[in-house]
Amino acid sequence: MGEFVIAQPQALVDLADSDALLAGSAAVPVHVAIIMDGNGRWAASRGLPRVAGHRAGVQAVRRTIEAAIRNNIGWLTLYAFSSENWRRPADEVRDLTGLLRRFIKSELAELGRNGVRLHFIGDRCRFDADIQHELVIAEAATQDNSRLNLVVALSYGARGEIVAAAQRALLEVAAGKLDPAALDETYFASLLSTSGMPDPDLILRTSGEQRLSNFLLWQSAYAELVFTDVLWPDFGEAEFVAALHEYARRERRFGARPG
Ligand code: FPP
Repeated sequence: MGEFVIAQPQALVDLADSDALLAGSAAVPVHVAIIMDGNGRWAASRGLPRVAGHRAGVQAVRRTIEAAIRNNIGWLTLYAFSSENWRRPADEVRDLTGLLRRFIKSELAELGRNGVRLHFIGDRCRFDADIQHELVIAEAATQDNSRLNLVVALSYGARGEIVAAAQRALLEVAAGKLDPAALDETYFASLLSTSGMPDPDLILRTSGEQRLSNFLLWQSAYAELVFTDVLWPDFGEAEFVAALHEYARRERRFGARPG
């Protein structure tokens, strides 16, 4: 099991009364972002092909969305496909994009009914035209929902995102629309793919790996990082709630001195 204590899902209801909520503690995160890792190892440990791990990973995605809704999380970002994942063998890329295509088609109505608003970040142009079309439909169909904002990072890489934002700023300067002296952190953030979204408060990674792997590098400046040994296909509400409790124990200072 993971590095943090596994709590019962209903324990979160008591969070307001718990000792974890000391002054200055982080309490409940607005935005949880997850690096879903370990599908391949989960499959290998069962003598199954990697695609079986990815399929089980989709079930964990469903459980996690439900857990986020039940625990009143406003924003959930899932790292589903990195810009580096295109370098995997062609059949695995096909499996992953196929699962994504099926997930969006089969879950859209249910997500919409549950008040989920879908957003996609990353270089969507690299996907087949039919997937790009499904992404546009899913965003448009759920744009009036506000219970949970679900951000799916697809063909996403933070360095590429930052370079693209820098290019946009340079183009604006060249066109005389932006004074270089006016380019501050707030304006730069508005040029990123996450423009208008809150920064993640909590970044969670499964499978025992402890790195960010080019995920939300700008946005994670003050995020709390929580790592669990649980492989992504085994992830569920108990692990999600345990991470929320670990987060609630942290004292966030955003660079300021302790009070
Ligand atoms: C990392 O495991 C996981 C991925 C590269 C893909 C994550 C994708 C899913 C959970 C399914 C599709 C998602 C959606 C939203 C439909 P890994 O393969 O790197 O595992 P390993 O490190 O054990 O090999």
